[in-house]
Amino acid sequence: MQKIQFTETVLRDANQSLIATRMPMSEMKPILATMDKAGYYSVECWGGATFDSCLRYLSEDPWERLRTIRKQMPNTKLQMLLRGQNLLGYKHYPDDVVIKFVERSIANGIDIIRIFDALNDMRNLKLAIETTVKNGALASGAISYTTSPVHTLENYVQLCREMTEMGCGTICIKDMAGVITPQESYALVSAIKDALPDMPVVLHTHCTTGMAFMSVLKAVEAGCDVIDTASSCFSGGTSQPATETLYDALTQLGYEVPLDRTVLKTVNDHFKPYRAECLASGLLKPKAMATDTDALTYKVPGGMLSNLMAQLETMNALDRLDEVLEEVPAVRKDMGYPPLVTPMSQIVGVQAVNNVLAGERYKNVSKEATAYLRGEYGRAPGEVNAELQKKVLGDEQPLTCRYADTLEPQFEKTKAELGETARSDEDVLSYIAFPQVAEKFFAERKEKEERKVKFSIEAI
Ligand code: CO
Repeated sequence: MQKIQFTETVLRDANQSLIATRMPMSEMKPILATMDKAGYYSVECWGGATFDSCLRYLSEDPWERLRTIRKQMPNTKLQMLLRGQNLLGYKHYPDDVVIKFVERSIANGIDIIRIFDALNDMRNLKLAIETTVKNGALASGAISYTTSPVHTLENYVQLCREMTEMGCGTICIKDMAGVITPQESYALVSAIKDALPDMPVVLHTHCTTGMAFMSVLKAVEAGCDVIDTASSCFSGGTSQPATETLYDALTQLGYEVPLDRTVLKTVNDHFKPYRAECLASGLLKPKAMATDTDALTYKVPGGMLSNLMAQLETMNALDRLDEVLEEVPAVRKDMGYPPLVTPMSQIVGVQAVNNVLAGERYKNVSKEATAYLRGEYGRAPGEVNAELQKKVLGDEQPLTCRYADTLEPQFEKTKAELGETARSDEDVLSYIAFPQVAEKFFAERKEKEERKVKFSIEAI
């Protein structure tokens, strides 16, 4: 009997996709010990936008959150999402920072690190993967899924081979836009399994376009080992397909699913009142829960489409949307077919808008697009339009090395600069990741403690 394992995403991706990562620790903590008994393959609970959100909006120390989850869930593998050399942000960090960040994540409780790069440039993943393995955790190599003339099954399989050689223990198909179709997921999982029969394959997708349940089922039929799902009241829409639904469907079809269905219900019952609260407060928007097939029509992810519309609206040019949507594939081609995931979705989108509104292609080229053409984000999946590159860079040669190789070490220097403000290496990393936000958090933390001391003295 084929065994299908589940990664529960309610604490991270479902939380991030539906309610802008605003779920505080107080909503999670009471249910963690129960979740520990569900039998999940892993619980995705950290990384992605959770780190920034903890510091920026929730006045929580992300590291403290991780330690609490670890304590409450001693029997479950804890998983985080890491953007390779970009860690949790959008810029490249020097190698010493990447090594330290991975080390401290594992030391504080992470078992599995899912590592990806927006461009699938393997040079941006290698160090994070190797450091993860060296520190005894499991590296899950993720391919950012997209379709284009250069994103062939052979190319994806080649990426999987490279990640396997780097030491990855599993391979994840990361379909961040929810655009993978049943036929595509079946073909891709089959191709990976043919090439690497012993490598466990994970499918991560979103319900955005309505394809997810079908694509997951076809992936399972092709031999997929692990699927990402969300507790049902935090599933659907821009989130993952529902855990309980897939449990019921797959067990009935004869697959072995090592989950406790009663526990799954208890977990979902716990989150239901919080979901209702989010809906009432407007944090959970009807748009996030809807099925939106525009991504299939326009071949741009839903998030990118709403960004384009918002951008055109502020410029009083919403009537140019159709022209912009026609321009997007042209810009993407000129840039060598980057997957339309952050930050590439923004870079391509802004450029398409500029091209249409200026009435001339590449008259205005953004700072970010210039950096991309210079090679600062990594290697483009396909050929970049040489004429465009020449026009933007002039005589300057694009980078051929890994961008991080041009960066100076930063950890020890920052640690010395922060002095007593940083109480741990974790604090230093928080600061390096999000300087202003962390600074504000440190000040608030100190103030809170001083208030506490003042109260206890007054009590004496
Ligand atoms: Co996702």
